[in-house]
Amino acid sequence: MCGIVGYTGPKEAYPIVITGLKRLEYRGYDSTGVALLDNGLKVYKKKGRVSELEQTIFGKDLHSHCGIGHTRWATHGEPSDRNAHPHVSASGKLAMIHNGIIENYAQLKQELTNKGYTFTSETDTEVLLNFIEDIRENNQCDLEEAVRVALKRVTGAYVILLLDTDNPDTIIAARKGSPLVIGVGNGEHFLGSDASPMLEYTKDVVYVNDYELAIVKPDELILKNLGNEKITPFITKLDIELAAIEKGGYDHFMLKEIFEQPSTIHDCLRGRLDADAGTITMSGIQNNIEHFKEANRIIMVACGTSWHAALLAEYIIEELCRIPVEVEYASEFRYRNPVINKGDIIVAISQSGETADTLVAIERAKENGAIIFGIVNVVGSSIARISDGGAYTHAGPEIGVASTKAFTGQLAVLTMMALKIAKEKKTISEERYRKLLLELEAVPEKVDAILKNAGDVKKIAEKYKSAGDALFLGRGYNFPIALEGALKLKEISYIHAEGYPAAEMKHGPIALVDENLPVIFIATQDSYHEKIVSNIQEIKARKGKVIAVITEGDDIIPGMADDVFYVPPADEIIAPMLSTIPLQLLSYYVGIAKGVDVDKPRNLAKSVTVE
Ligand code: G6P
Repeated sequence: MCGIVGYTGPKEAYPIVITGLKRLEYRGYDSTGVALLDNGLKVYKKKGRVSELEQTIFGKDLHSHCGIGHTRWATHGEPSDRNAHPHVSASGKLAMIHNGIIENYAQLKQELTNKGYTFTSETDTEVLLNFIEDIRENNQCDLEEAVRVALKRVTGAYVILLLDTDNPDTIIAARKGSPLVIGVGNGEHFLGSDASPMLEYTKDVVYVNDYELAIVKPDELILKNLGNEKITPFITKLDIELAAIEKGGYDHFMLKEIFEQPSTIHDCLRGRLDADAGTITMSGIQNNIEHFKEANRIIMVACGTSWHAALLAEYIIEELCRIPVEVEYASEFRYRNPVINKGDIIVAISQSGETADTLVAIERAKENGAIIFGIVNVVGSSIARISDGGAYTHAGPEIGVASTKAFTGQLAVLTMMALKIAKEKKTISEERYRKLLLELEAVPEKVDAILKNAGDVKKIAEKYKSAGDALFLGRGYNFPIALEGALKLKEISYIHAEGYPAAEMKHGPIALVDENLPVIFIATQDSYHEKIVSNIQEIKARKGKVIAVITEGDDIIPGMADDVFYVPPADEIIAPMLSTIPLQLLSYYVGIAKGVDVDKPRNLAKSVTVE
């Protein structure tokens, strides 16, 4: 949450910073601001989107070769001009942006207030900034030392970037818990919450680690720990092209990402799955195969859509591998005192690889000796780096705030993982194993076929756009898809939606059913089909509107449902990867019909780096 950008070098800083902020807007879009150094500080900031700030400051003096920018997801203080970053210190010499939360800010604020400081905003950031300045003035030290001293007193999470009028080409940066990437150019450096602001300038990046401080000048990058010892920056080559973060002719990133799924699922399977040879090559699993074979339990830790992928994995792994699986919300797991035994494996699932709750949860589990396996989309992200092993989903950059292609990538990885472990453990027959490999290999083509009928989903979305509530029901492997369908609809269309196991519906939600309530059944051909047909009857008997995702060739449900979406036939373990696609499209088209900014729905952010 919150995007940060910085640049120092021979180019004009402002265009780089403002373009970078647009790319990082998925991280929050409550307010925007830039600080530029050039014979003093120029700070422009405003409530609202990056484009609004850009319009407001058009024509102003934006000349500078060293600047920072911020796009905010509000934590302390409402979204407003005065709470927008960058903040300027009491002396007017320092400007700072921050992503994270300073937990002990109230105490620091009190100390500073006692010394006579006043504050113009309600933010924790302004407190930390003045705390740093106060240390610099009292200790007669340089800014770098003041930052070090201040951060030793701070609890919480942060990435901070600081400008100082005394050192007009230098950015001081520090990180703990929130992401920071530094791009190394030729006589210039770029800073960002991810690598997107620097893609067209350099492919050489340094991922800054927790408790590291960076002194960034045009031709020098010095990394130090908080003990003032130098660390050699480790340069990684980026493997992302600019086109991957552009809309490519689609109206929205979300639609682009939904339509990319045939190729992203293919990319995820490619080089790993060989159905002819009957092999799955996943070095992260292979390197830990004895642990997986011997595992007493797998604990899956995730948030949001990634949690839904984990839930489906529970069904698949228990069925195929006969290993007990527990699925945990990272935010709950981290604050409990969970029992982690020798032989337990923690699987962390995260698109961004930066979700604070998931990251801290696995750090705690790691301290307790657990083996951490990460299933992550963003290469080089924090969760990827602290995991003992893992598998990337290879879905490419996902920019729409609602996760789509990363989810199907997670399902593809988790299914391969289950098949590989099951094969090694001999808990699956050769025949079923081979069949599932073939089924998995066919998923991209089947997803493509579903997307060809997107127009049908659009028409149905129009019919239901005025609904106030919606219920999503599924059984077995399709239950997590019901949860995901409901989450997508509420995120993107602001329609209140709930997902439930179809049979559990009788224990409460059925009371909501009337002629206005759309009930979306995920009812593909599987071992629960007859049961879910009965559940549909129960809804119809109460005059609910039934929309069903069904398998092509189903001749029972179309006679009962008000509307249907067809998906191609597939094994019940694989079918959820198909049945989720029409639900993604449904939420997208309902959101569009209601005029929602589907890529940036209100109050949400994509990378949740606060707890
Ligand atoms: C946010 C996003 C969701 C995402 C969740 C977990 O809520 O809006 O789309 O599923 O975070 O994020 P992660 O990056 O850990 O998968």
